[in-house]
Amino acid sequence: ATERTLSIIKPDAVAKNVIGEILSRFEKAGLKVVEMQMKSLSKAEAEGFYAEHKERPFFADLVAFMTSGPVVVQVLEGENAIAQNRELMGATNPKEAAEGTIRRDFAESIDANAVHGSDSAASAEREIGYFFGN
Ligand code: CMP
Repeated sequence: ATERTLSIIKPDAVAKNVIGEILSRFEKAGLKVVEMQMKSLSKAEAEGFYAEHKERPFFADLVAFMTSGPVVVQVLEGENAIAQNRELMGATNPKEAAEGTIRRDFAESIDANAVHGSDSAASAEREIGYFFGN
């Protein structure tokens, strides 16, 4: 089915000048960018976005990293967009990410891991609403 998913190009990838290369991977895989915004997240915005991780030991570092520079937030649309985007991204930890994935090619560490993508239909709906409303 045609789905929408939320994707974030994180501060490390923006700083590396690979926004275009990452968007190009989505496009070449048949995903369409249907909304997009470059912005600097406030601490409150980053904390709200990652609220489900609030109790995790890495939460403070995650919020600090996501507010360390501008990000590019986009909605991707296409057949099985949620799973497809996760395949393009690769494993959360770039050391475990398969060859040819975005994280394998552009990410440095589990914190600076280049991209975020919604992990389920429920998260996609919440995350798209969080940045772009309904
Ligand atoms: P993301 O998909 O944006 O969702 C939460 C982020 O927390 C994740 O990518 C990682 O960048 C970061 N993170 C840091 N440590 C961990 C960890 N141990 N497990 C999962 N995510 C982590």
